Amino acid sequence: MNAFAALDDWIVAEARVATAEMLRAISATRLVMERPGFGQRVVPRPGSVLASPVPAHYDPEPDYFFHWFRDSALVIDALHVALLAGYAERSAVSHLHEFVEFTRSLQSLDGREFLRSGNFRAKVQPAFLQYVRADPEIAALSGDTVLADVRVNADGTPDFIRWSRPQNDGPALRAIALLRWWREFPELRRDRALLSALGDVLRTDLAFALAHVREPCGDVWEEESGCHYYTQLVQAEALTQGAAWLEENGQDAPARASQLAAQETLVRLDGFWNEADGFYRSRTDAASAQAGKDPNIAVILAVLHTGRAGGRHGVLDPGTQATLTALEEHFEGQYAINRERPTDRGPALGRYPSDHYYGGGAWFLATLAAAEFYFRLAFSLRSGAHLAAVAANLRFRQRLGAAEAAPRSEDWGRLALERGDSIMRTVRAFTPQSGELSEQFDRSTGAQTSAKHLSWSYAAFITAAASRAEALRPTRVADRGAPPAGTA
Ligand code: NOJ
Ligand code: NOJ
Repeated sequence: MNAFAALDDWIVAEARVATAEMLRAISATRLVMERPGFGQRVVPRPGSVLASPVPAHYDPEPDYFFHWFRDSALVIDALHVALLAGYAERSAVSHLHEFVEFTRSLQSLDGREFLRSGNFRAKVQPAFLQYVRADPEIAALSGDTVLADVRVNADGTPDFIRWSRPQNDGPALRAIALLRWWREFPELRRDRALLSALGDVLRTDLAFALAHVREPCGDVWEEESGCHYYTQLVQAEALTQGAAWLEENGQDAPARASQLAAQETLVRLDGFWNEADGFYRSRTDAASAQAGKDPNIAVILAVLHTGRAGGRHGVLDPGTQATLTALEEHFEGQYAINRERPTDRGPALGRYPSDHYYGGGAWFLATLAAAEFYFRLAFSLRSGAHLAAVAANLRFRQRLGAAEAAPRSEDWGRLALERGDSIMRTVRAFTPQSGELSEQFDRSTGAQTSAKHLSWSYAAFITAAASRAEALRPTRVADRGAPPAGTA
């Protein structure tokens, strides 16, 4: 068996493991999470998605036994990818129904009612009271504030633990995921109950994105408030795709408003390009690069989670390519596991240079994002798109194909595919036989750290593997424009 076939087989096998593991976090009604410090006993409801199904209490793994809006949307999106790629059984569709119902039920969540329904503080141990949110903050929970509240308990009750709030990306990511299901599985539209629940959730999420797209909020890493590339790009994309859906449903005025807000946001995002450093900033704060927050993998994740075609804020944008190069070059120098690695392996990536969270190691979802970026680029190039040759992406092109003299689009496609594979080899090197994936792997030892069985790591594996399969599929002549006579 040649090396290529071996990698191929491993990726397909691991994609199946990732799917099975990810499914364990969805509708995990058989699990129970005790938080004695907070006097809580949580039993997940159908449709909830755990960021990690492994109970932990910062001992040392973090407690991720919550339904995070961001993570759950990415998981539900990856589920549709797993179905299309054949990694999941058809029966997994039932989880979409449950997820939509669970999400809809959160619309009636009401903080005042929660406070009235019992004195939850009486059950919190004194040492834990400092981690509990103030009453007015809980009382303010209803409608839009719930959508920006980042996460809830998996039994659908509000999370009363203090956290970085608000974060506005969740509803946008959910809208993008649901619209993809809607497009890819038209047969679901025959189910009237699903259709009505889905419509409810979509309308609410899109209205939220429209109302809040101009406001600062907490970033994807839950660290600081500001105007963030990730949050804004996913909101812009939700509004763009949502506009088409709204129009189809006869809602012309909100459709137009969404379209306009999306365009305006994209213009604002163009301004995140930082000529001096040669990458897109992850936030508008100019001091962030000095503070070590840039380059930031959040920019690459934004590109993948929106999947934009064309040369602006997608894989064909020289600016996003340059950002990926900056990240790779940074982590190649920073992480011991990247130095002296075999020549056929790409770098392991983390979030950003000054990250200290659980040792600031490499993240599976960050490393997989780099691989997926190359696979998507390979697919675009093999389908006839062109790699821009501009100063901004000079290093990116050099690193891709230094040996080739003026490669053609197809050759660039092959080079991008190989580059993605070199990063998948690195992921394989740090994945145990069992196939389990945590959040991070240590920057010096490679040992898995932070949350165990992170659902988002599995989702990231699934979408990377499926993008690779897509990029490998023989391109049809018709994809590349006019077929030469007699060859189609
Ligand atoms: C900082 C981390 O970087 C972030 O990702 C995490 O979610 C928050 N702290 C909360 O623990
Ligand atoms: C920490 C990450 O920074 C955040 O993006 C994520 O939502 C949570 N972990 C849960 O996985």
